[in-house]
Amino acid sequence: MAKYIISEGVPLKGTIKVDGAKNSVLPIIAATLLGESRSIIEEVPDLNDVKIMCNLLRSLGAVVEPQADKSAIAFHLRNTTNSTAPYELVNKLRASFLVMGPMLAREGFVRVALPGGCPIGSRPVDLHLKGFATLGAEIAQGHGYVEARRTRKLIGNKIYLDFPSVGATENIMMAAVLADGQTSIENAAIEPEIVDLASYLNEMGACVRGAGTDTIRIEGVERLKGCNHAVIPDRIEAGTYMVAAAITHGNVKIDNVVPDHLKPIIAKLKEIGTEIEEDTSSITVKGSGDLKPIDLKTLPYPGFPTDMQAQMTSLLSCTAGTSIVTETIFENRFMHVSELKRMGANIKIEGRTAVIEGKGKLTGASVKATDLRAGAALVLAGLAAEGSTEISEIQHIDRGYCALDKKLQALGAKIERIEEEQY
Ligand code: EPZ
Repeated sequence: MAKYIISEGVPLKGTIKVDGAKNSVLPIIAATLLGESRSIIEEVPDLNDVKIMCNLLRSLGAVVEPQADKSAIAFHLRNTTNSTAPYELVNKLRASFLVMGPMLAREGFVRVALPGGCPIGSRPVDLHLKGFATLGAEIAQGHGYVEARRTRKLIGNKIYLDFPSVGATENIMMAAVLADGQTSIENAAIEPEIVDLASYLNEMGACVRGAGTDTIRIEGVERLKGCNHAVIPDRIEAGTYMVAAAITHGNVKIDNVVPDHLKPIIAKLKEIGTEIEEDTSSITVKGSGDLKPIDLKTLPYPGFPTDMQAQMTSLLSCTAGTSIVTETIFENRFMHVSELKRMGANIKIEGRTAVIEGKGKLTGASVKATDLRAGAALVLAGLAAEGSTEISEIQHIDRGYCALDKKLQALGAKIERIEEEQY
């Protein structure tokens, strides 16, 4: 296992470029299964989660070919050679479950290992399965797997999501694009990644309307063709670097962003006291001056994103005064708190709320990443801490951040990646 060593905190300065969005490219890779011809997906981030998703598609029979431009990958499923997404892959990557909708629509049968829980919560998939059943699929569960089967084409229907689940909205959308008739998904998720997936499906010949609103209408079509599609920039990676600038009192320009996708993050960082300048596709964050405590609640988009909660908890731990952070999306997304307390943070968890008594500086310590965003939060805390911080289990961070150490080094951070054989 590799680890990060951050020798001391320094103000970050310079320019950093954001990659394509992990949470957009994963459903879009699944959607390439629907095309009768080849798709080339561009701006693909070089992440471990993407590698697992590509291997899953290969295991189903798809041809997956990285292109000369290394951020572009070609996908084409000519003939399915296998209809099962095995436990060993789904257990590594929950987003593997997103092949269910496309495979059900295209092949009429699919068998996927039930994705277990993960550190941040139980992560059920009941809304996905209810949606498939409403479209006419037969669902069976057993031995840790769920099977979806259709004996005829799926039939468009009205689906109401009890919760605006991102994954359920995506999976149902991908199942409905080849159904007979119209499907409406009400109380749908409206995240930018939903809009990106709908754009790709429409470029393939689908008829998806209303993505980005809470009611998505889909008119089923006969077939879809492959096409080229460039993935939107990663708003969570961008937000992580914004917090890095704020927590180190630095001055950082972040390129390749969609400012509109960052509205909740911009609003809360401004409330804390950072200076933010927006341009058409970049944003500059200056962490000058004193920061002040705030209250923060995570909500479905356009509310404050849960994937930025851990990073903000690190920032507020270094901000003098009392801040309240409430996590409404996942039931156990405070795993970073016990590690931050090892660095001197004063945080009390009461149910889904963290009461933070922030203070000027944290002190470096040995800590471990428990999940992707918790790991990112510990890197941010280390970038601002007094003394050296050692972060182990950083394979969690590799899932969502490409070459994080190198990108931060380019901003002046004193961070090194140590591979296992070196220590
Ligand atoms: C997506 O997960 C993201 N992952 C997550 O990012 C993100 O945190 C989450 O959306 C919320 O924005 C990808 O896009 C690959 P949900 P997803 O379904 O789709 C409950 C990261 O760090 N729920 O919107 O799994 C669920 O328990 C990751 O990049 C049901 O009850 O999220 C949770 O409380 C972490 N039944 C809530 O909805 C269901 O059938 C939100 O889950 C589905 C979900």
